[in-house]
Amino acid sequence: MKQLYSKDYIARQVSRLGSEISQDYQNEEILLVIVLKGAMVFATDLARQITCPLAMDFICVSSYGGQTTSTGKITFKKDLDTDIQGKHVIVVEDIIDTGLTLQVLTQHLQLRKPASLKICSLISKQKHRKTSTKVDYCGITMDDGFIIGYGLDYNELYRNLDAIYTFDPSQQLAQGDA
Ligand code: IMP
Ligand code: MG
Repeated sequence: MKQLYSKDYIARQVSRLGSEISQDYQNEEILLVIVLKGAMVFATDLARQITCPLAMDFICVSSYGGQTTSTGKITFKKDLDTDIQGKHVIVVEDIIDTGLTLQVLTQHLQLRKPASLKICSLISKQKHRKTSTKVDYCGITMDDGFIIGYGLDYNELYRNLDAIYTFDPSQQLAQGDA
């Protein structure tokens, strides 16, 4: 495991995103739609950097299973508790890779007629993008590679690391076998 983004670097990006959102919405009320589970760590830090009136709700979709590449299929595991009609919604994601999860999710949310719908993602991976869905607020852009920490998991582990690390599952297996 090699550290890619330090705790301080992440905190600076989160603070910048919070300022951008606060500037854009001013005194409008925002609903953060937090995509479980990966975005929960980021979202709780982000929410505290936003100065607008703010509510939070959670949605849970699953796209990867135990794999490290996208299947293109997503399953809704938990829906929102809130009616988003007429609300200013910001979807908070941990990481966007192919963009397929986000595309299906935003199409689904648009049907509920929010006043506005924007996307905020801590990380945007560029190499495998298959959609044109715009990321309105992006913390960190990277090309490719599987990463863990700060909410991001591999098989549900490592979400609690406070920095972000590159991770190679084949190396982990090799070490485990040794
Ligand atoms: P997409 O549909 O390919 O954009 O995949 C997005 C989802 O896959 C994210 O919300 C993450 O949950 C997961 N994901 C994508 N890349 C990574 C990674 O490098 N580490 C951990 N999870 C990832
Ligand atoms: Mg996710």
